[in-house]
Amino acid sequence: MMETKYQKVDRVVLIGSGAVGISYAFALMNQGVTEEIAIIDLNADKALGDVWDLNHGKTFAPSLTNIWQGDYEDCKDADIVCLCAGANQKPGETRLDLVEKNMKIFKKIVDDVMASGFDGIFLIATNPVDVLTQAVIEFSGLPAHRVIGSGTTLDTARLRYKLGEYFKISPKAVHAYIIGEHGDTELPLWSRATIGPVPLHTYLETHENHKAEDLDQIFVEVRDAAYHIIEKKGATFYGIAMSLVRITEAILKNEHTVLTTSSYLQGQYGVKDVCIGVPTIISRKGVQEIIEVPMNEDEQKKFMHSVQTLKDIYEPAIK
Ligand code: 2OP
Repeated sequence: MMETKYQKVDRVVLIGSGAVGISYAFALMNQGVTEEIAIIDLNADKALGDVWDLNHGKTFAPSLTNIWQGDYEDCKDADIVCLCAGANQKPGETRLDLVEKNMKIFKKIVDDVMASGFDGIFLIATNPVDVLTQAVIEFSGLPAHRVIGSGTTLDTARLRYKLGEYFKISPKAVHAYIIGEHGDTELPLWSRATIGPVPLHTYLETHENHKAEDLDQIFVEVRDAAYHIIEKKGATFYGIAMSLVRITEAILKNEHTVLTTSSYLQGQYGVKDVCIGVPTIISRKGVQEIIEVPMNEDEQKKFMHSVQTLKDIYEPAIK
């Protein structure tokens, strides 16, 4: 007799099909990362229109992703629920300005997701992402390793792209990290950056027309990138969508790869009770391990300032 083996399929539920959410769904489908995507949005027509539109492109995708307009019941069997809902920055607003509005929206959404019996991993993109990631741990009651924010994965990608342009080298050969708040207090870990295997500063010294001062400029451009994009086109979405897909893939494929997600510190770096962008080993478990990077004094000072900034926002907001 033929034996039929039950094959589990991966399901992502996307909540919030605005520009970020739907770019994420589009990139997921294009890369064939998951078998199922359910899309939920307050605006049911928008979600349904998006589902139709995405499905019409399926013929050309690398694999057949099953995409439908979902409801909260779909979260029960989801491996990942990705939260992209909420208000976004207007020109001139910081990410932290959004905290009150989005905290309220998140409380309701997380309650509805948990009521379905959800037992997977939350992936959070909405800003201020570090604060909202921590709020989701609180609202959901899930173990912290199953709540992951996009953190500084996008900032790290922006830095690698910029350094790649500067050195005329693939961003994949640039090993550099941005850590801290996804926002104004983030910092580059220059002391740990390498080009291929060569420390960044050594590489700079041995290449004409490249100087250490340029690095400061590159970092400022990375830190302020979202402000410039928002000024030009009102919002950012492709970069963050690709970052979310990368994290999703790392989870679903149990990659044990290192990404600078917003992860909950429980004593690492001598810090407790804050979600912040740090190099994190991501696996099917979610946060497999938080890596403690040795930092120089200046980096340590800036990191602690970033930690304190987030604590000062989170603690009064959650009460
Ligand atoms: C970004 O950095 C706005 O957080 C968003 O693109």
